[in-house]
Amino acid sequence: MNIVLCDSAAQATRLSATLIYREVAARPLVVLGLATGGTMDPLYQELVSLHRACPIRWSDMRCFNLDEYVGLAVDHPMSYGYFMRHKVFDPLGVREVQAHLLRGDAPDPQEECRRYEDAIAAAGGIDLQLLGIGENGHIGFNEPGSSLDSRTRIVHLNPDTLTANRRFFPPGVCQPESAITLGIQTILDCRQIVMLAIGEKKASAVAAMAEGPLSAMCPASALQMHPATTVVLDTSAAQRLRLKDRYRRAGPADLHSA
Ligand code: PGA
Repeated sequence: MNIVLCDSAAQATRLSATLIYREVAARPLVVLGLATGGTMDPLYQELVSLHRACPIRWSDMRCFNLDEYVGLAVDHPMSYGYFMRHKVFDPLGVREVQAHLLRGDAPDPQEECRRYEDAIAAAGGIDLQLLGIGENGHIGFNEPGSSLDSRTRIVHLNPDTLTANRRFFPPGVCQPESAITLGIQTILDCRQIVMLAIGEKKASAVAAMAEGPLSAMCPASALQMHPATTVVLDTSAAQRLRLKDRYRRAGPADLHSA
């Protein structure tokens, strides 16, 4: 796990967006895994800005979303499909045929999980997966207690996750209590991973992920076994790391100059 400490949230966000942008610029046929959530919102704004300042070709890449609420169709305003379409795909000119979304309203959710795993395999696997981390250490919606060898499946969301995400649901809009998520093993199969974590609310989960034991109780700790994971942190998210000084000394200079 390559840990990159940044001086500010803005710098960490810009660096993460730059890593995605550079990958697409260098390899137009890349297969991306894309995440949603509050941390990703400014990252995608940065990505769109980078593209507008110096356009690159998005028409040949393909992408897969990380998770989706069960019951929400892709055009539901609270769905992750809707988030992606409006904040990422439309501004970058990514067409529907390129963007694989989990269908939260699929009539047979189990079949939808199998279909998604098959589609990832048919695309040749995911080259670069973007991840956030939950305050409870989840990645995607793989909650504490998830099997480290899990694949795309339906999960019941933990109360702390429901509370953390309630802010995205306006009063009167029902928040689903289950979701479809790429599994931990599906994530570990991705060739490269970039995680962005911002703010002190993430500090305990980040420390458990990077310096704690490999444990189902912190699903993100599974990334310790992944050969090419870069974790980008602002100062607040990094505050509970015991080896901060070491990461700072070892930090790759070229990443910081991105
Ligand atoms: P957040 O979610 O960016 O909204 O904090 C991250 C996550 O739960 O993975």
